[in-house]
Amino acid sequence: MSATASPDKMDKLVSLCKRRGFIFPGSEIYGGVGSTYDYGPLGVLLLNNIKQEWWRSVVQERTDMVGLDAAILMNSKVWEASGHVAGFTDPLVDCKGCHKRFRADHLIEEAMGDAGEEMAGMKEPTVDIKDLKCPKCGGEFTDIRHFNGMFKTNVGPDEDAGSVAYLRPETAQGIFVNFKSVLDTARKKLPFGIAQIGKAFRNEITPGNFVFRTREFEQMEIEYFVKPGTDEEHFEYWKNWNMEWFKGLGISPDNLRFYEHPQEKLSHYSKRTVDVEYQYPWGWGELNGLANRTDFDLKQHTEHSGQDMTYFDPETNERYFPYVIEPTFGVTRTLLALLLEAYQQVDGGRTETTDSNKEAETVLRLHPRLAPIKVAVLPLSKKEPLKEIAENLRYRLAKKWMVQYDESGSIGRRYRRQDEIGTPWCITVDFDTSEDNAVTVRDRDTMEQSRVKIDELEAWITERLED
Ligand code: GAP
Repeated sequence: MSATASPDKMDKLVSLCKRRGFIFPGSEIYGGVGSTYDYGPLGVLLLNNIKQEWWRSVVQERTDMVGLDAAILMNSKVWEASGHVAGFTDPLVDCKGCHKRFRADHLIEEAMGDAGEEMAGMKEPTVDIKDLKCPKCGGEFTDIRHFNGMFKTNVGPDEDAGSVAYLRPETAQGIFVNFKSVLDTARKKLPFGIAQIGKAFRNEITPGNFVFRTREFEQMEIEYFVKPGTDEEHFEYWKNWNMEWFKGLGISPDNLRFYEHPQEKLSHYSKRTVDVEYQYPWGWGELNGLANRTDFDLKQHTEHSGQDMTYFDPETNERYFPYVIEPTFGVTRTLLALLLEAYQQVDGGRTETTDSNKEAETVLRLHPRLAPIKVAVLPLSKKEPLKEIAENLRYRLAKKWMVQYDESGSIGRRYRRQDEIGTPWCITVDFDTSEDNAVTVRDRDTMEQSRVKIDELEAWITERLED
């Protein structure tokens, strides 16, 4: 059985997330609201660390990438040009008997194998929904209604057609409409990419599996602009990059695989799409995506806006629409996969645990760079001189990293509290510290204890974080 296959793992993780302040149900005191989640004190740190890690590797460390932060509200013509107003829809039907709502494509898919997927391309389905019966009560279905997945709002006080705006369903379009501005200001030549992190909103019909599919989520997207004809080699490069990035964050290769979308199921803009899938407790599912969006978006925006979005190639003196390779990541979905991967239960009574309680213990084996809290400072006594040394040490380390100070309970109990939230190193200030100016650092995964001079502590931690 794989590390993630345990059926109750998800329940345990959801409970840990709530209990330790990673993720809370949204608007909980009012009974919640349709699959929204709030990220608590530890959750926000983990989210930030994931985004920082991604930004460092795709923008900071590269010379061919720049960043962007576009507005969420955009001119609604953007979504007409992108095809989202007409095509970002789910086909829905209601049962006339029990009034339950279903996705027509899913019903047809179940009844006829892959035939239902034709509906995603808005072609005529090969089966009539009227021939199918409700799986709950056997009733008949209503006609198909196409439901647009974009959240609609109005800009300004008037609620008329001219004020309609949409919450963006993908961050990508903010990049496309700024292509020219970035090109004119960032002095980049093809191939180059623009990266963006930000919220996206989809009025999902079937949100679920905790934060796997929600209506509000965060994306980290790259639009990588290349010369037409070189797109396939760049696609291969990013395909491998995506997989390696997840492995580098500590996800086991056994829980990762590629999924190549069949040609007939590609989105309207894509020439080829390959996902990285993760083995969630309920089965394999999308973790991130990679699409060859060709020149579809830049051409569409040129046509709809009247602004020329072509690129002048100084090497060949040609003008053309670049092709676009799009690696796209869900921040919240990445967070879920990382938590599932890191979550482990080990036998109780680990050697240094002084508690007599031998219940299974939880360890969150997060990559140290992702761990919300990097170190915990634990004085063996609440009294001086240990207290002052420990408080000073916490303050000093907190200038660089998130640190927790904990002086209550047995040392074993304190270690367990830190293991449960993934803190890689616990620093014990003990009765020898004032003599040898050193502390004991305990490693979360190996439980090895090292004696480290206080003056060398920052270098000791930095070295391990850069590994
Ligand atoms: N710009 C292309 C695009 O948006 P997508 O496959 O629809 O492609 C990209 O979404 C990524 O966003 C997915 O791989 C997934 O990680 C994340 N994602 C999509 N819908 C989501 C949802 N409802 N909840 C959480 N994450 C979602």
